[in-house]
Amino acid sequence: MCGIIGVLGDHEAAPLLVEALKRLEYRGYDSAGIATINDGVLDRRRAVGKLVNLSDLLVHEPLAGKSGIGHTRWATHGAPNVVNAHPHCAGGVAVVHNGIIENFRELRAFLAEQGVGFATDTDTETVALLADHFRNQGLSPRDAAEQTIARLEGAYALCFLFDGEDDLLIAARKGSPLAIGYGTGEMFVGSDAIALAPMTDRISYLEEGDWAVITRDTVEIRDANGTIANRAIKTIQIDSAMVDKAGFKHFMAKEIAEQPVVLQGALSHYINAEATAVTMPDPEIDFAQVERMTMVACGTAFYACLVAKYWFEQIAGIPVEVDVASEFRYREPPVTKGTVALFISQSGETADTLAALRYMQGKADKIMSVVNVPESSIARESDMPLPILAGTEIGVASTKAFTCQLTTLAILALRAAQMRGRINDAELAEKLAALRSLPGLLNLALGIEDKTKSISRKLAEARDILFLGRGAMYPLALEGALKLKEISYIHAEAYASGELKHGPIALVDKHVPIIVMAPRDSLFDKTVSNMQEVMARGGKVLLITDQKGATEASTGVWETIIMPEVDPFLAPILYAVPAQLLAYHTAVAKGTDVDQPRNLAKSVTVE
Ligand code: F6R
Repeated sequence: MCGIIGVLGDHEAAPLLVEALKRLEYRGYDSAGIATINDGVLDRRRAVGKLVNLSDLLVHEPLAGKSGIGHTRWATHGAPNVVNAHPHCAGGVAVVHNGIIENFRELRAFLAEQGVGFATDTDTETVALLADHFRNQGLSPRDAAEQTIARLEGAYALCFLFDGEDDLLIAARKGSPLAIGYGTGEMFVGSDAIALAPMTDRISYLEEGDWAVITRDTVEIRDANGTIANRAIKTIQIDSAMVDKAGFKHFMAKEIAEQPVVLQGALSHYINAEATAVTMPDPEIDFAQVERMTMVACGTAFYACLVAKYWFEQIAGIPVEVDVASEFRYREPPVTKGTVALFISQSGETADTLAALRYMQGKADKIMSVVNVPESSIARESDMPLPILAGTEIGVASTKAFTCQLTTLAILALRAAQMRGRINDAELAEKLAALRSLPGLLNLALGIEDKTKSISRKLAEARDILFLGRGAMYPLALEGALKLKEISYIHAEAYASGELKHGPIALVDKHVPIIVMAPRDSLFDKTVSNMQEVMARGGKVLLITDQKGATEASTGVWETIIMPEVDPFLAPILYAVPAQLLAYHTAVAKGTDVDQPRNLAKSVTVE
């Protein structure tokens, strides 16, 4: 949610800033802007919409200077227009910000009393005005920034640039991630290591409450108490191929296609070569002692929790409570002894999920997380972070992260079942072998692409689409509806198929396609009965099932997609593929912006 970048370079900063913003654009694309210092003079350029608009502007109105800051915005306070675009400037101070300054009204009132006027509707302008106010009182840039940061409440990753100071950046982090990149005689600041990757692979992460005074040769980091802090510099491997479309039209298409390969990596990480045992990081949680689990996440990751609930309850016999993070954190649920809390997040920075995790610290026996970014806040604040090894996911709609989350959770559920004596070695080996067959099955499942493409052209004409599923396929139906609506903008809802007749069946008519996700499992007959109820009312059914299911139940349906046969335990992982491909091709047919759908951003670091 908003990406920020800062550069103290030995070359022109503007091209570096734009290149870094390109890599941060997945965090928001309502507007973009940069500011530089040239011979001590601060100047900026800003443009509404995608980064390309800023690049075009810079062709006609270039910005010189070797120091600068940049921003790509996902609007929170104030409409997405040029005036509200970052960097925000006041006097000789420029600021870029990711997060929300919660006390900005209070700060505005204070500034107004001092006779300060406002040019924008944003919370961030207040930060620039406050720093300028302190500078006008005679404070140095460093002290003005320190005084400003001390007055801020809320969440922020900030980077300050001051006129007259072409060898100074001040950065601060609270609630939003921020990394410092170390070059040779150059220094960088960025929202994540991906942004900094072309410039340096030597990174340190600021901790909560840290702020840093950065020159080309020095970095002084202080913690929230003002004490000098040492933050380890790590060499980070970012495979630049991972942030490249590799010939695909969209990142989403590439990430869907990558699933067999990345999933193979996750399987090899957690399962031994003989497929007889699970390896978990040490010290492992003793699931024999666990009385219940609380799983919390947002969006697609929340649906991964819902699938995992079936697995942990049915296979490991552990009662599981699942909640969306934005509700959980304010619900203040009582936490009893023997509770393990598990948080799922691709980015590892989702504000609500992180806040829920912090709520559980000191209450749950152990905090686990299932994350894609190992250096993220959620991973770092967990007792047992489990990487999903999906590789960088750029498309805003999560695809490969979802299947890797599910795979990691399936393995964990099996390990928990083994520790609790619910499955023996032979049963474990059988399930692990089934898991090991998943990459091959995913490859086969990707073979339905042409079929999904032709069906999607028809789906693209619909105004509403319903998804139905039973058991662990119900969360898959939810995921299918989410994927479709977020990138094609077609209204889509999902229901547990048995729930349809309690109200939603009133929506059914010949204009509403109904997508039924039903592998031939023990619940198949029941789902088919619900499907018949829909067809009896003129509903147009797309049945996604395997060959056996199609033979038994495809009479009278509008379309059938035939999936490879799979152990029912793993069907939710495999059936993610048709959900993703239908959403993708429907969006392509509608001509929407698949990788950067309107109003969204990849990493939601605000409440
Ligand atoms: C949907 C999607 C979102 C995210 C949600 C949580 O395709 O990607 O719903 O799943 O914003 O994000 P993470 O997993 O980063 O916490």
